[in-house]
Amino acid sequence: MQFKSLMTLAAIGMASTSFAQDSSSLSVDGEAMVTEVAAPSHMEYVDTLYSGWRFRSPETQALQTDDFDNPGMIFVDTAIDTWATADGSEGKSCSSCHSDVAEFAGLRTQLPRVEDGQLVTMENLVNECRTDRMGAKEWKWSGADMTGMTGLISLQSRGMPMNVAIDGDAASFWEKGKELYYTRVGQLDMACSNCHEDNYGVMIRADHLSQGQINGFPTYRLKNAKLNSIHGRFKGCMSNIRATPYKEGGEEFKALELYLASRGEGLVVESPSVRN
Ligand code: HEC
Ligand code: HEC
Repeated sequence: MQFKSLMTLAAIGMASTSFAQDSSSLSVDGEAMVTEVAAPSHMEYVDTLYSGWRFRSPETQALQTDDFDNPGMIFVDTAIDTWATADGSEGKSCSSCHSDVAEFAGLRTQLPRVEDGQLVTMENLVNECRTDRMGAKEWKWSGADMTGMTGLISLQSRGMPMNVAIDGDAASFWEKGKELYYTRVGQLDMACSNCHEDNYGVMIRADHLSQGQINGFPTYRLKNAKLNSIHGRFKGCMSNIRATPYKEGGEEFKALELYLASRGEGLVVESPSVRN
């Protein structure tokens, strides 16, 4: 790492001591989760992938081991009601057409994906059904309706390994996401990689830096007591380095999401995870 970014890290409170991810193993309601896996061959500088869960305190970790204790499940329960509630000019609910949300098992592991030349996330798929098939209003990207629903749909893939396509027509989006990941931005002139690749394990103020994985999203954060979207988290990290964040749902964050999903290949879906 360059001297300049070391100085920057010192300025924002990164300690010189580094603690490895802990060695606890995660099981949720008795089902074992893979929180550590060999990195895929497309990653040049990292050998082992770790779930963000491995960097959290024992108290925060415990909240994710039991659905009854997981505060994110409250929002998932609300989404179960929404699923069956009619909305929009067609008088339809999700359940009018999708008999059981369990039919979405595996979907989370493959998103985002390319459809007709466009990179598409889970939020896009949900909103497409709302606007084009229900005649209902689009949900806000990081609003409670959307994060609850993406939580419910992602939960159907819990325990399944992330496995997004990055070749073929996804390749150009992936390249763009990779470029964004390594590009320094903001007043602190830092890239995602400076924290989540070069310095995971380091303490930054009271926070233990992880690899910035997205396999647990949407994530319940104790800090704001709600489910947080992937793009919402990207926005927060960009603001923290005093950069102007890209737009939620915009091309930059969608490409970054694809790239990060590929950096988590083999880690299992943990949604809804719990973080500080
Ligand atoms: C009028 C029927 C209809 C309604 C109502 C509807 N959908 Fe869909 N949905 C479809 C069709 C058709 C597709 C595309 C074909 C497919 O993948 O099943 C689809 C696709 C999807 C997909 C992508 C599935 C995949 O495997 O690619 C998701 C996720 C989804 N819908 C969620 C929802 C949610 C959440 C709601 C309620 C907010 C909803 N849908 C309401 C008909 C509907
Ligand atoms: C100054 C250091 C820093 C930079 C630069 C940074 N982040 Fe973060 N990020 C953090 C901290 C601190 C956390 C909370 C602790 C953790 O999970 O690492 C975090 C958390 C995350 C998480 C949540 C991980 C989880 O398991 O819940 C994601 C995803 C993430 N960052 C993505 C990004 C992306 C994408 C970028 C570049 C746009 C970025 N970060 C840039 C410091 C940073």
